[in-house]
Amino acid sequence: MAFPPAFIDELVARNPIEDVVGQYVNLKRSGGNLFGLCPFHGEKTASFSVAPDKGIYYCFGCHKGGGVINFQMEVEGLSYPDAVRALAKRCGMTVPEDEQYQSRYRQQERLWALHKEAARFFHSQLYAPVGQAALNYALGRGMPKSTLTTFGIGYAPDSWDSMVKAMRAKGYTDQELIDSGLVTKSQKNGNLFDRFRDRLMFPIIDVRGNVIGFGGRIMKNDKDAAKYLNSPETMIFNKRKNLFALNLAKKSKLGYLILVEGYMDAIALHQYGFDCAVASLGTALTEDGATLLSKYTDQVVLIYDGDTAGQNATKRAIPILEKAGLQVKVLQMRDAKDPDEFLKKFGADKFKVLLEESSNRVEYQLNAIRKKYDLREDDQKVKFLHECADLISTLGSPVQREVYGGRVAEAAKISMDAMKLEISRAWKRRQYQQKKKQEAIDLAPAKALQPKSRTIRYDNVKSAMAEECVIAQILRQPALLDQTKNLQAEAFSSELLGRVYGQLKNRHDQGMDVSVAVLSDLSGEEMSHITAITQRQQETVSEKALSDCVRTILAEHQASSVSSEDDLLALQNKLRERKGLGV
Ligand code: UTP
Ligand code: MN
Repeated sequence: MAFPPAFIDELVARNPIEDVVGQYVNLKRSGGNLFGLCPFHGEKTASFSVAPDKGIYYCFGCHKGGGVINFQMEVEGLSYPDAVRALAKRCGMTVPEDEQYQSRYRQQERLWALHKEAARFFHSQLYAPVGQAALNYALGRGMPKSTLTTFGIGYAPDSWDSMVKAMRAKGYTDQELIDSGLVTKSQKNGNLFDRFRDRLMFPIIDVRGNVIGFGGRIMKNDKDAAKYLNSPETMIFNKRKNLFALNLAKKSKLGYLILVEGYMDAIALHQYGFDCAVASLGTALTEDGATLLSKYTDQVVLIYDGDTAGQNATKRAIPILEKAGLQVKVLQMRDAKDPDEFLKKFGADKFKVLLEESSNRVEYQLNAIRKKYDLREDDQKVKFLHECADLISTLGSPVQREVYGGRVAEAAKISMDAMKLEISRAWKRRQYQQKKKQEAIDLAPAKALQPKSRTIRYDNVKSAMAEECVIAQILRQPALLDQTKNLQAEAFSSELLGRVYGQLKNRHDQGMDVSVAVLSDLSGEEMSHITAITQRQQETVSEKALSDCVRTILAEHQASSVSSEDDLLALQNKLRERKGLGV
C-alpha cells in the first residue's frame, strides 16, 4: 500500500534510527556511528553499525541494511505497512489508512481472536465429559495438568460441527471460519464441517503471543489417518516462518535453543527443565526458521530422532543453521527413538549427560564419515582417511586440526605424522582449487562485481557500476540531483537502481527529503543491497567523476537501444529475405 510521502517523512523523522534500533540492540558510540551485536545473525564481535546522520543501519557481517522502517520489518518480521503502523504507534502518529490495507489488518485481527477462542474451546473440551478419553491419553503420556495449562493443550471433539457451532455463537462469520482453516466447506452440499475431529490439540503460538494455528494428534493408531494433522497455511499461519514453543523458549535463561522434530519432544523437554526447546512445524527446518532462531540465540542443539530420516534431516539442517550464523551442536539420540521417550525412560539427569556429550559439528561429521566405512578393509580405510582429512583441513585452528587429526589417526591405526601429511595435502588441494576459482573470477571480473544477493543481477556491469556511484553520491548529497537533470531513471540498466533513482529524483523534485530510509516498495534484499552500496562508497567523488558516471550510463543506454534497434532492423531484413525466397 502507498502511504503519503509526507507522512513517511514525518514518521522517519520522529523515529530516530538509533532509538528504534536501541530498543533491540545495545549500541555503543564510536566516532559518528554506533555499534552493537547484529540482531540478525549470531555474533560475538560488534559488526552491526548505525549511522544516525544518514538514518541507516548496516551489518558488515551479514550485509543486512536499510532505514528505520526496513529495520522494523526485519527485526519483527513485519510487512511494510505493519512496520509503518508499529512505528507510528511508537511515536504517537495516526496512520492515514488505505481502505484495502485496513480491511486486511482487521481480517487478521479477527483471525487471531478467533484462534484464541478456538484454543479456549478446545482446552475446555479436554475437561468436559466428551474429553475424558483425551484427558486420560494426555495424562497417560506423562503430561501433568500444569503442562496441559502451560501449552494450552486441548481436545477437538468427535463431531462434525462442534467448532463451527461454538464459533458461530461467538459471532464469527462462515467466511471467517473458512479463512481460519479450522473449518472446511463440503464440496457436495456446501455445509461447513470441523477440520479437527477427535484429536488432542496443540496450539501453535507465535513470538508475539498470538495463537496462529494448531497441530492435532489422533489418539488411537490408525493406518489410514495422519498421526498429526496441522492447520493449513492461512493469512496468519506460515509453517516455514514459525516454530512450536518458541513463544516460551525465547524467555529461557539457558542461553541456547534446542531444536527437535516433534511437538511431544518439545513439550517433554520443557517439562523436564529444558525450557529452551522448540520444534519445527511438520516440515523440515527452513532458512526462515533458522533466521528466526538466530534472533534469540547464537547456539542451537539439534536433537532429531535416531532413525535414518532424523539423521538425514540433521545433515540438511546443519548448513542451514550455520548460514544463519548459529553455532550447531548435535545430540546423538540413543536407547530411545526421540527425546520424549528418552526423558520418560531415563529422566532429566541422564539427558543432561547426553547433552554434555553432544558433539560439535566436526565431531558429528567425523562420526558420520566413520559409519560409512569398514576400517578392516585397506581400500576403505584409505577413503576414510581421505574424507576425514578433507574435513579437518577446513578447520582454521591448528589445535583443532591436531586434536581431530589425532582421533582419526587412532581410529585408523596410522601414525600422527602420516595423518598430518594427509591433512596438509587436502589443504593444498583446496588452496589450488580456490586459486583456480579466483583466476576464473579475475578473468571474468564482471561476475565478481555482481551483487551478493542472488536475486539481484546486473545485465550491464559497466553501467551498473556507474549507476551505483550515482545513487551513493546522491544519498550522500541530495543536492547533486540538480546536476543530474538530464539523467532519467529509464536510462539505468539495472531495474532496481533505476527504480531507486526515480523515487529519489521524484522526491527531490517535490522538495522532499532524500534518504535510504524513505525508499519504499523495496524487498529486504534490495534494501540491504542499496545500503551496502552506500557503505562501500563512503568517499565523496569529484563533480567530474559524477558527470563521468552520468555520461557512462547515458552512453551505455544509447548503445543498448541502438543495438536493439539494429536487431530489429536485422530481423525485418531477414523476414523480407525469407518472403522473397517464399519461405
Ligand atoms: P513423529 O512421528 O516423530 O511424532 O513426528 P512424535 O513427535 O514422536 O509424536 P508422538 O510421540 O508419536 O506423539 C514428528 C513431527 O512431525 C510432524 C509433527 O509436527 C510431529 O510432531 N508430523 C508427523 C506431521 O505433521 N504429520 C504426521 O502425520 C506425522
Ligand atoms: Mn514421540
